Amino acid sequence: MLKNDRFLRACRRQAVDRTPVWFMRQAGRYQPEYRQIREKYTLMEICEHPDVCAEVTLLPVRQLGVDAAILFSDIMTPLRGMGLKVDIVENVGPVFEEPIVREEQVSALPPFDAEEAVPYVLETIRILVRELDVPLIGFAGAPFTLASYMVEGRPTRDYRKVKTFMYSEPRVWGQLMEKLAAMVARYLVQQVEAGCQAVQVFDSWVGNLTRADYETYVRPYMYPIIEAVRATGAPVIHFGVNTGHLLASMADLRPDVMGVDWRTDLDEAWRIIGPDFAVQGNLDPVAVFAPPEVLEAKVTDVLRRAGRRPGHIFNLGHGVMPQMSVSALQRVVELVHAYEVREV
Ligand code: CP3
Repeated sequence: MLKNDRFLRACRRQAVDRTPVWFMRQAGRYQPEYRQIREKYTLMEICEHPDVCAEVTLLPVRQLGVDAAILFSDIMTPLRGMGLKVDIVENVGPVFEEPIVREEQVSALPPFDAEEAVPYVLETIRILVRELDVPLIGFAGAPFTLASYMVEGRPTRDYRKVKTFMYSEPRVWGQLMEKLAAMVARYLVQQVEAGCQAVQVFDSWVGNLTRADYETYVRPYMYPIIEAVRATGAPVIHFGVNTGHLLASMADLRPDVMGVDWRTDLDEAWRIIGPDFAVQGNLDPVAVFAPPEVLEAKVTDVLRRAGRRPGHIFNLGHGVMPQMSVSALQRVVELVHAYEVREV
């Protein structure tokens, strides 16, 4: 049984004793213990060994005192499980051996079943739900963000290849997005069936599109994903970077929780999407490097903008960085938990 369900209560906009807090990318290179495990295993090997993967997932929960665990994995894990040749290159990111350029490659993408493609992920979830006393968040990359890596072949600054593909081959683009959407929906539902109590859909790079392009080329494929997860009863968090101009469009998907990066103030984000959503965010990650009194002021500012509304989940506006210190992140958790959320 969960000892601490304030994260799930906040997802549902129920009253909480303290604001729940967790961090995107809370397991990683900033932790000495993680770096030690990485000397023996690559990132993908960690994911393929359920015992090791569960241990890595648990590290930040024990070390930081956060209110939720996030399954340790990567948005590339299911694509690798489907047989695509993708590696995570250190300090670069995901790199595909054969980027998607032709229709035949899209047609050849196989249907997805997690039990077949990534049994180790489901096994890790089953181990974790036995060990954890906080909720476990599963996740997947959204179709546009996955496609951006698959088409570009590697991280990009301008999204030139993927957007050109989208504009010039709309029919093939639609096939690719449909296949990815089917994969993501199935994968998330299977993560919930294995025991995850909530899921987050990362559309990290969708903020590079205009609102019109988002609504034409991306959003139609997102509805069935959110709908499939909502049907399980588990809350869905939807997050992207640099999405201030897309928040209203993304809210039309009806996720339970909208993730907001640090560029949009939390009260402004809430004003845009309305009161029917929980909101997750949004401390500027770089604030973690600021002197203690500046960091404290910035944490308090985020909490103040949440304005004691039910449904605030504290997080960074994007992921933890390898240069952060464990103690600074512990301090953020302490500050959030010390904040009085109830009216006094
Ligand atoms: O939050 C967690 O603790 C769960 C772990 C997690 C990882 N990747 C592990 C990882 C999560 C949620 C992700 C998601 C992910 N992966 C996203 C979406 C989230 C976001 O940050 O917007 C994206 C875009 C990726 C793709 C990816 N994988 C990138 C860009 C990188 C960084 C490359 C680098 O070396 O800097 C990765 C590698 C990666 N995934 C690391 C971790 C902990 C880096 C550490 C390592 O190589 O061991």
